[in-house]
Amino acid sequence: MTRIEALPTPALLLDLDVLESNLGRMSQRVERLGVALRPHIKTHKCIEIAKLQRQGGIAGLTVSTLYEARVFADHGFNDLTWAFPLVLSRLPEALDLAARSRLGFVIDSEKALAALSSLPPRENPIHVWIKVDCGYHRAGVDPRAESSLRLAGDIAASSGLIFEGILSHSGDAYYGQDSDEIAAIAEQERVIMVELAERLGSSGIEVRGISVGSTPAMTHAHDLDGVTEARPGNYALFDYTQHVLGSCSIDECAVTVLASVVSSHADHSVIDAGALALSKDPGPKHDEVPSMGRVFSDPGSKALDPDLRVVSVSQEHGIVNRELAVGSKLRILPNHSCLTVSCFDDYQVVRGDDIVDRWKIWRGR
Ligand SMILES: Cc1ncc(COP(=O)(O)O)c(C=O)c1O
Repeated sequence: MTRIEALPTPALLLDLDVLESNLGRMSQRVERLGVALRPHIKTHKCIEIAKLQRQGGIAGLTVSTLYEARVFADHGFNDLTWAFPLVLSRLPEALDLAARSRLGFVIDSEKALAALSSLPPRENPIHVWIKVDCGYHRAGVDPRAESSLRLAGDIAASSGLIFEGILSHSGDAYYGQDSDEIAAIAEQERVIMVELAERLGSSGIEVRGISVGSTPAMTHAHDLDGVTEARPGNYALFDYTQHVLGSCSIDECAVTVLASVVSSHADHSVIDAGALALSKDPGPKHDEVPSMGRVFSDPGSKALDPDLRVVSVSQEHGIVNRELAVGSKLRILPNHSCLTVSCFDDYQVVRGDDIVDRWKIWRGR
């Protein structure tokens, strides 16, 4: 059996024991909170991982690209929410897919609704969610605005469309300073969504689903009363950012990058993991010493070296802040696993120090 040290670099390592335990913990957590789980697969983009998630009980999957939707549908995952504001130029492709699987569309504008409601009659209705902005201020309608109630009413009244409900993403939880602040952001999301659903209900508009979540919000939330489903994604793998946010311990981070030292100097070394292996994510907003990646004290260790860091990255080069032997290997904990995973074609699946499998990463738009 191949061992980690024998791998050519850069390589993406996935610790299977850690992955399985992360999946199990979130399944239990959402069950305790009384909601269904619809994990976002943009983090792992991997059929084998989605199959493990399905074994733990899921309502369906969340995707962010039509490519992901197509690939996962082709592998038998037929209940998908495309949790990205509808891309009008991709509507024909999305409709093709919606004809053969249950694909939830997400919109936050009358313009997107007009594109859907003016389609010729179809055999299958189109399932539509409204994206709601609960404080992240990225996409979504204003939950207090009359226009949001009108948009929901217009969807419900359009023949050929089914109003599924309201959907939010608490990305603002990434700015929470501690567990209490993150739990408060999750609670704010819950309250805003439940109140909006009540207002819609009193206007005679049936809200079938209230879908919320991000990994920090779902790991710190105390209560999800009234919510129907949670859509965390990052929790499967975690990363250094989630560690600083208190969502996980270092031991619970499932992906790492194995890199080699290729050039050594008095005050730094060059490794073969730059932006195209680690990404350029600058890491958690409130890290005491920001870096492009933290390094384990040796490739077999579970402890971070307190001082060794990836201090900068260019395309293929990474710079670490110490003189190290050329040819030696480093195991790096990425700042943001979703972006790091999307730099690789496959995971080297490991148990302990042994490579036990190789799983494809389905990247595409
Ligand atoms: C719409 C939407 N839902 C859910 C998620 C999952 O959140 P996280 O990556 O924090 O698990 C994301 C992530 O960006 C998202 O954009």
